[in-house]
Amino acid sequence: MADQPANEAPYRLLRDVEFGADARVYSFTNLYGCTVGEGAQIGTFVEIQAGAKVGARCKIQSHTFICEGVTIEDGAFVGHGVTFVNDKRPRATAADGALQTADDWELEETVVEAGASIGSGATILGGVTIGAGALVGAGAVVTRDVAPGATVAGNPARPL
Ligand SMILES: CC(C)(COP(=O)(O)OP(=O)(O)OC[C@H]1O[C@@H](n2cnc3c(N)ncnc32)[C@H](O)[C@@H]1OP(=O)(O)O)[C@@H](O)C(=O)NCCC(=O)NCCS
Repeated sequence: MADQPANEAPYRLLRDVEFGADARVYSFTNLYGCTVGEGAQIGTFVEIQAGAKVGARCKIQSHTFICEGVTIEDGAFVGHGVTFVNDKRPRATAADGALQTADDWELEETVVEAGASIGSGATILGGVTIGAGALVGAGAVVTRDVAPGATVAGNPARPL
């Protein structure tokens, strides 16, 4: 693992990231405390939060948000503008009116298994597993687990 990607590109914020060999990260990206596997590609305007894991040879297309608690296994494809969610009932403030801290909410973990693909503009709610090789249609809202190899679409996402 290295602390820098294999390619050069201007305007990247990269902090405490572990990169596998030949991982590539393009411009206007914000990655912190995450891991990016060997040969993975991270497109422009992507944010990846602390604790998230992107596997080897994944393609993460532009404008996607990958939050804490998300694990993307090897060879998965994440289209443009995909949003992951990790907090089911978000609130800005705690009961005392102060801004919430990490102790005030429950993290929901999500797994995208090997070789799965997520279409552009999909929203993936927290706590779900998208099975190996599954295909999520563009614009889908995934609220439940997706079986390996299944194709799902719509809001809520259902097998096609
Ligand atoms: C889900 C998907 C794989 C389905 O492809 P397909 O099996 O060829 O399906 P079809 O185009 O034959 O459509 C079948 C039905 O599903 C509907 N459908 C297709 N994609 C849909 C989607 N994303 N959301 C909701 N409905 C969808 C169609 O309207 C059609 O409905 P109908 O029978 O009532 O007319 C594809 O449409 C898709 O969304 N792929 C993701 C592409 C993408 O985001 N790529 C990212 C980077 S470019």
